[in-house]
Amino acid sequence: MFRRAVLHILLSSFLFLSLLSLSDCHVPPARTMSHGARPMPNKVSNIAAEVAGYTGVAKQIIDLAVFGVAQNRSYRRLADFTDTVGNRVSGSHNLDRAIKYMYSAMTKDGLDVHLEPVKIPHWVRGKESAEMIVPRAKNLAILGLGSSVGTPPDGIQAEVLVVKSFEELKQRASDAEGKIVVFNQPFVSYGETVAYREYGASEAAKVGAVATLIRSITPLSINSPHTGWQDYQEGVKQIPTACITIEDAELMWRIAQRGQKIVVKLTMGARTLPDVDSFNTVAEIKGWQHPEQVVLLSGHLDSWDVGQGAMDDGGGAMISWEALSLIKDLGLRPRRTLRTVLWTAEEQGGIGAQQYYNFHKGNLSNFDLIMESDMGTFRQWLCSSPALTQQKRSWRKWLNYWPPLIQPNWRGAQKGRISHCG
Ligand SMILES: *[C@@H]1O[C@H](CO)[C@@H](O)[C@H](O)[C@H]1NC(C)=O
Ligand SMILES: *[C@@H]1O[C@H](CO)[C@@H](O)[C@H](O)[C@H]1NC(C)=O
Ligand SMILES: [Zn+2]
Repeated sequence: MFRRAVLHILLSSFLFLSLLSLSDCHVPPARTMSHGARPMPNKVSNIAAEVAGYTGVAKQIIDLAVFGVAQNRSYRRLADFTDTVGNRVSGSHNLDRAIKYMYSAMTKDGLDVHLEPVKIPHWVRGKESAEMIVPRAKNLAILGLGSSVGTPPDGIQAEVLVVKSFEELKQRASDAEGKIVVFNQPFVSYGETVAYREYGASEAAKVGAVATLIRSITPLSINSPHTGWQDYQEGVKQIPTACITIEDAELMWRIAQRGQKIVVKLTMGARTLPDVDSFNTVAEIKGWQHPEQVVLLSGHLDSWDVGQGAMDDGGGAMISWEALSLIKDLGLRPRRTLRTVLWTAEEQGGIGAQQYYNFHKGNLSNFDLIMESDMGTFRQWLCSSPALTQQKRSWRKWLNYWPPLIQPNWRGAQKGRISHCG
């Protein structure tokens, strides 16, 4: 999950939106869409009526996925994929293997598959460690942040300044020179608090810090540091930056509150290598009536280099594939093209999605709906775009036709946590 991905998260279960584009011999073409006219935004209520006509088809799909031979299939696919490929950070050999794996698996599944080239960053973590030396010896669990520079081979040893916010850092700017700044910001929400991970290094460098250690962006911890992308501001000195655990951030905060001096030694072997060639992996079922019009389902194939990338975002990738599989297995023929895109290098700032947008922007009006699942494959979140927000009441009405199992979570859209799509 990357906060500013071009294509924001919409649903973690897609297949029902794709009903919009479905038709088979059991379903009479709906009046509003049978003459090749594109539905206008103010015709959402007509679409709602059309969707209601697909109740039987929806039931068929749910039955196949939940009770039928496809039961647990996306889970089995996810397990096989992650067990076989492992994690797959941008630029890695494993990401290449993941793309080959999915290309071959979706082709075998009978889908129309192709690859679209993308140049992607290649950052490598290298060896990394951190240790508190004063007032006592303690190993600190760390994970370097994507795009961070490394330390000199012998590491950086420096006194620590602990702050709870960017404001406090500004107030104590004169104390920061030559120090390792530890950010112990409280967790508010991922969307808000992640600013410390993204910009902490540059903000600290501006006041003369030599490195930053940032409390992981999470409400929970079992001494578990998180990683993620960070952004250096242009023209600001690049200093090494890593996340530490909530426990260690709080520990150093308490010690500092007592007026005691803290010294930490940080060693990071991180490096950025030249960009490499990669691909967005695209699979589709062509629409019979409006093949040029697209309903796009997506997840990202890359992950971080620690863990398995099962939740982030193997699950999103697998359900995007599964939606097409279910429709194909039932012999349903969509009116519009159903397209699954497995993005590359999402974690580095939605690089694959940006490239896809640049390549396809001339045909943007052909994209009826764009979805990305990247918030865990649980209850879906609904995307909010300015257009959708205006249409919310109509959408709500339309969504009333969805089965309870897949009623989306509107809160995400209302809070604006999912800020835009497309
Ligand atoms: C699917 O998973 C559930 C829960 O583990 C299990 O009870 C069920 O037998 C599985 N079904 C198939 C077809 O493997
Ligand atoms: C844009 O749409 C046209 C007409 O459907 C198609 O021929 C062309 O390949 C599309 N371009 C891209 C980049 O997909
Ligand atoms: Zn993700």
